[in-house]
Amino acid sequence: MTINIEDELNEDIFRERLNKYTKKAFRMLPEIDKPRILDIGCGTGVPTLELARLTNGQIIGLDTDQNSLDKLNKKIKEKGLSERVETVKCSMFEMDFTDESFDVIWSEGSVSVIGFERGLRDWRRFLKPGGFLVIHDEIKNTEEKLKKIPECGYNLLGHFRLPEDAWWKEYYQPCEKRIEKLRVKYRDNPKILTVLSEEQRKIDDVKRNLELHRSVFFIMQKK
Ligand SMILES: C[S@@+](CC[C@H](N)C(=O)[O-])C[C@H]1O[C@@H](n2cnc3c(N)ncnc32)[C@H](O)[C@@H]1O
Repeated sequence: MTINIEDELNEDIFRERLNKYTKKAFRMLPEIDKPRILDIGCGTGVPTLELARLTNGQIIGLDTDQNSLDKLNKKIKEKGLSERVETVKCSMFEMDFTDESFDVIWSEGSVSVIGFERGLRDWRRFLKPGGFLVIHDEIKNTEEKLKKIPECGYNLLGHFRLPEDAWWKEYYQPCEKRIEKLRVKYRDNPKILTVLSEEQRKIDDVKRNLELHRSVFFIMQKK
């Protein structure tokens, strides 16, 4: 039997613990009936599916990683959301949606790929007049980012930092505990142990640099 260690690690379960912040950011927007939402860099879709729970709208999850999109597609099907949620394999650098076609653009953990300023400028044209852009980003250079927002053609509706220990307590520490358990379970499987050591190395790196692993939400409206 093949062991799918990614499934056993199931990091999405821990990522879901941070959905309360997705919800908090979403509640900072005015109510929109059946919004059309684009989630850029959706990954396996933890925030995408939270948005589907929070709205009655249509959501597109966009990412370049087919493996993540396959996982999200499976969840969409299982949850009976195929009518409202779809995925698109495309790079955020190559999006060719119709101008002014989204009420909301959402991006968690992905704007750093394109850069905060370029993301704000490039994605603006896809928003309807008065549409909303919500970005969950690393905490680095928050003050400079806040200054860029009006320069890039948005009003800031609000922003908030996640609590200092949120990523550690809600995500990385539970992941570490899961790794410990799997190490015992697969103690006789060198291949799996190598994968688990690699995962543990990533967590050790986070532990050494906890202050860098903080994040902030920006809630913006197109001017
Ligand atoms: C840190 S993950 C965030 C996933 C998800 N939004 C979340 O918060 O759980 C960043 C995602 O950006 C995606 N990504 C990286 N480069 C990309 C690109 N050029 N275009 C679209 N997505 C990209 C990655 O594949 C990954 O799924």
